[in-house]
Amino acid sequence: MNHNPARLNTVLQKMGSVGQRKREHLKICIEKNVSFKKTNGFEHYEFEHRALPELGIDDIDTSTTFLGKALRLPFLIEAMTGGCPGTGRINRNLARAAETLGIAMGVGSQRAMLNHPELIQTYQVRRVAPSILLFGNIGATQLTGLSPDAVHALIRQIEADGLVVHLNAAQELCQPEGDKDWRNIVIQIKRLCKILDAPVIVKETGCGIAGKIARLLAPAGIKALDVAGAGGTAFTRVEYYRGAPLAKAFFEWGIPTAESLKQCKDAVDIPLIASGGIRTGLDCAKAIAMGASLAGFALPLLQPALTSHQAVIDKIKFIEEEFRMAMLLVGAANIQQLAATPIVI
Ligand SMILES: Cc1cc2nc3c(=O)[nH]c(=O)nc-3n(C[C@H](O)[C@H](O)[C@H](O)COP(=O)(O)O)c2cc1C
Repeated sequence: MNHNPARLNTVLQKMGSVGQRKREHLKICIEKNVSFKKTNGFEHYEFEHRALPELGIDDIDTSTTFLGKALRLPFLIEAMTGGCPGTGRINRNLARAAETLGIAMGVGSQRAMLNHPELIQTYQVRRVAPSILLFGNIGATQLTGLSPDAVHALIRQIEADGLVVHLNAAQELCQPEGDKDWRNIVIQIKRLCKILDAPVIVKETGCGIAGKIARLLAPAGIKALDVAGAGGTAFTRVEYYRGAPLAKAFFEWGIPTAESLKQCKDAVDIPLIASGGIRTGLDCAKAIAMGASLAGFALPLLQPALTSHQAVIDKIKFIEEEFRMAMLLVGAANIQQLAATPIVI
């Protein structure tokens, strides 16, 4: 990946030793190729081209609502960071861009701030993004033992609208220090949904969610599911570069995003987010036509976020242009029409 070494070094120096793991993740994601060889699977699906769209590009309305909040585009900046000195700036660049563009955003895992309250500010973005749909983030295995107060604090302290719980078994298992006990997770998610009066979303982190797993999760009370499938960032690769040889055999482990989305759409009736290797506005358009409410991206925004909020805006604006172009080429004037547009294998 192209990167700005000076900017990256400044951020890494500020992180110090507190967030060693997070620090290594960022460095590896910027400097190494951490992407799956396999694709997100959307190339297997095609729209029928409409030679007579009967639309002007300015007629296209990309606005939508998600969990009751209005968005200008059906896009989500996926969870990435926070939790060590220096990462607050990355989150604020992402958040300012989200505010300007009218899209949703999630912060990275808030695990670090549970034990280090001084790190809360690295997740706080409301000052620069007062109106965005904002999500907190915590690992599923951290739910055990979290008091109701601690759960509420995750949301309250960053003024989030909801909490995302991430499933990352493949990543944890290959880390020597990772969580190895993956029992009773659905019970914990159910408890969380009861405790919290804000929406809970469950996401994977690049290995996807099968339809039958979605069927186990939906009745727990979650309000949406983010498939975060294979085809983009592969955390087994990230962990391998951090020195986990166990990860190598699992470089290609995971359900491609398009397949995961299709399975979940057939299995459950809750809003779905398509993420994992979403790289173009055409991927986003296909995801919406296949039943997603939002399309999300993480890695493509990391380097821009290290640079400036304007760099994040520029990156997403390009994806927006591709998205609008796809909508025009299928004759969809709004998101409802795009969602109803046939897409074939
Ligand atoms: C640097 C980095 C850090 C991440 N940290 C988190 C995290 O703390 N919590 C989480 O739920 N997902 C995390 N993710 C996973 C992303 O949210 C996303 O699910 C995954 O990267 C796939 O999307 P992508 O292919 O667009 O990168 C992280 C991703 C990256 C690249």
